Amino acid sequence: MSVENIFECQLENDQLAVQDGLQLLEFAPQKRPLLEEVLEGLTPKEKSLPAKLHYDQRGSMLFEQICEVDEYYITRTELALMREISGALGDAFGNGCMLIEPGSGASLKTDLLLASMPDPAAYVPVDISRDFLLESATAIADRHDIEVLPVWADFTKGHPIPACEAAVRSRAIYFPGSTVGNFSRSEAASLLRTFGTMIQEQPDDECTGVTGAVVVGFDCKKDQGRMEAAYNDAEGVTAEFNYNVIDRLASELGVALDRNKFTFRADWVENEGAIVSRLWVDEGHSVEMAGSVVTFEAGEAIRMEESHKYTPDEFKLLAEESGLAMEKIWTDDAGDFAVACLRPLSV
Ligand code: AVI
Repeated sequence: MSVENIFECQLENDQLAVQDGLQLLEFAPQKRPLLEEVLEGLTPKEKSLPAKLHYDQRGSMLFEQICEVDEYYITRTELALMREISGALGDAFGNGCMLIEPGSGASLKTDLLLASMPDPAAYVPVDISRDFLLESATAIADRHDIEVLPVWADFTKGHPIPACEAAVRSRAIYFPGSTVGNFSRSEAASLLRTFGTMIQEQPDDECTGVTGAVVVGFDCKKDQGRMEAAYNDAEGVTAEFNYNVIDRLASELGVALDRNKFTFRADWVENEGAIVSRLWVDEGHSVEMAGSVVTFEAGEAIRMEESHKYTPDEFKLLAEESGLAMEKIWTDDAGDFAVACLRPLSV
């Protein structure tokens, strides 16, 4: 996934719409034609597909199932940790805080956090999927007495921050779920830098000057066997999550790829500090794609996704390179998952 500077965005693109009783800020960036992106990923010797292709409706449902499989410890560990620390996070945010959640979901973790924030100013979920965003924003608005201001945008490309009714004393970003791990290290650094800018006072700002926090959940490095098992679950749900991308290419883009010619495997790659998920080509074949022929050699692979893992020290360094100091870090007892509270270094 790539990240662009928030201030490079064109403000003329934004629009306000009222939908399901919510004020929706629409800032959907021009999407590159998907076929073009797919072709670009499959043409070089080292083939890859954009990780975002995993998340159509079926993919999102499969991801929810992944979160429940025995081997995928991430979701349940983070939730248990958030139950313990949400009170401390709420205190760290203070009164009148606007909570921004990039790539949001109506998750239990967000509920915990909102419930523990003293007198929050507003909740701003940001997501690229308009339907999913509206659904989750409505659910949060039903459960909490707080102004909910959804932003339909690709958070990696930057977006404006909506104005809210209450006085905003500070802004905080909540980026849970180890989503940061799905970006390369340099992309993650640039994303954290963007987040750091968003919580600081801007020219013509309505926010009255208290610098907020960036709270990030990330998966920690651990025993290789456990990390690999989490992405090669015995039921094959993660494999299906990846084969679904091949099916999408066939059904949505007319690319005649056949899932039966690939085998899924996720491996720990030490020098990348990441689990890399790949579809390996079983038998050589070619397919036609937008007037070009793409050849798959037996034994080569399509890189589908990276899930980077960090030690707390590595994450501290990453944050510092992005202009953020690690104010506090919490982990579960086993040290499997961490939540870090970051503040701008200069403050
Ligand atoms: C969303 N993200 C943090 C998941 C991960 O662990 O990288 C996506 C995932 N892919 C396979 N399993 C889970």
